[in-house]
Amino acid sequence: MKNNEGGFTSSFGAIAAAAGSAIGLGNIWRFPYTAGANGGGAFLLLYIVFVFLIGVPIMMSELTIGRRSGQNAVGAFRVLSPRQRGWMLVGFWGVLTTFFIYSFYSVITGWTLDYVVLSCSGGLSGKTPEEVSAVFREFSSGSFWPIFYQIIFMAITVAVIMMGVQKGIEKSSKILMPVLFLLMVALCIRAVTLPGAGEGLSFLFKPDFSKVDGKAVLDALGQAMFSLSIGLGVLITYGSYVRKQDNLFRSSIIIASTDTLIAVMAGVAIFPAVFAFGQDPTSGPSLVYETLPNVFNSMPGGIAFSIAFFVLLSIAALTSTVSMLEAIVLFVMQEFKLKRVTAAVLCTLATLVLGILCTLSFGPLKEVTFLGKTIFDILDTLTATYMLPLGALAIVIFMGWFYPKKEVLDEVTNQHTLKAGFFKAYYFIMRYVAPVALLCVLVAGIVASFR
Ligand code: ALA
Repeated sequence: MKNNEGGFTSSFGAIAAAAGSAIGLGNIWRFPYTAGANGGGAFLLLYIVFVFLIGVPIMMSELTIGRRSGQNAVGAFRVLSPRQRGWMLVGFWGVLTTFFIYSFYSVITGWTLDYVVLSCSGGLSGKTPEEVSAVFREFSSGSFWPIFYQIIFMAITVAVIMMGVQKGIEKSSKILMPVLFLLMVALCIRAVTLPGAGEGLSFLFKPDFSKVDGKAVLDALGQAMFSLSIGLGVLITYGSYVRKQDNLFRSSIIIASTDTLIAVMAGVAIFPAVFAFGQDPTSGPSLVYETLPNVFNSMPGGIAFSIAFFVLLSIAALTSTVSMLEAIVLFVMQEFKLKRVTAAVLCTLATLVLGILCTLSFGPLKEVTFLGKTIFDILDTLTATYMLPLGALAIVIFMGWFYPKKEVLDEVTNQHTLKAGFFKAYYFIMRYVAPVALLCVLVAGIVASFR
């Protein structure tokens, strides 16, 4: 079935848009600090195994659901399972997860934009590490500026969405993704040519299995899902725009490989510099905002490096926020019969309200906590630890156990015009491997949070 929104006009456009969704703050902000906290190379290996063993099959399933139904994440289940409408809840769960993630993600996008401006105006240069930290803390705990930049970023996102699937999403992805890649290559070259870069590279690539514990395994699977945009309804939405003749298996492999390549490149750009200038690779979420500016300050060409880095981070974030907003907007448009522009404005306003609360949770609302967590932390943990794996588990059960195998085969082989050599392995993973792995993540996540 074809989505009446029109669709992507080329295979490259579809891949660029989906890779744009996958590549985001998850790769450049979250991956390096998660790898840093879990021992570097061993984590990377685990991560790659999860991406290809579990991530690619789920990604292909979501694209299949979207393309087969030609609908938003909720409508897709109505079309594919007309008799058992309860499955629509799975789509709704995905949209709700995306709504929450977009809200807290927008806080970090605002910070990123502020750092582009700070880098350009020299507001970070010549500062001691204490001063750099103070800049970050003062900014992030304020009200006006973080919200100001958050609104600007959300306005850019909604502008792309209002331009539509082809002129907005596809066109911007086709331009921004190659730019992002070139910027990343330039940053990697700068980083590996720094004196003493070897230590950082061996931290990233030399596996130290003594660091692999239950937490590292969980973090690796959670990171793989977050990074591939799985369980959000985003890939179902984009799947509904993919052309019937495109090869979903090949596209999924390309999207996942590109996403992984960019995460590894982010590690290559960041760790050598962090080690070369004596910073802490395990400093956590503030690695990018508090640690890296010190690195930029102490290296030749640091200002250019800093501008390039934060522009890159903004581009990566934008193609992800566009995909998240589109998943929510298409749901509202199709289910409530609204025009694109109206739906886009309403969805943005709704996410902005929650997003502002998240921003303020670093400042005036810091004391508003539940089980010791701020509003931002609650949304982050709720989505990454529970909602994403649960949503993905439901999708896996739908595809592996409920939706007829013959229909799946028809769709992924483009009505038997493509070879289906991968199908047996794919179906086995969907029926057995992925449900067990996701269940383990969920249970372990729940146990860990009550310890
Ligand atoms: N997949 C998106 C990211 O990695 C959400 O940032």
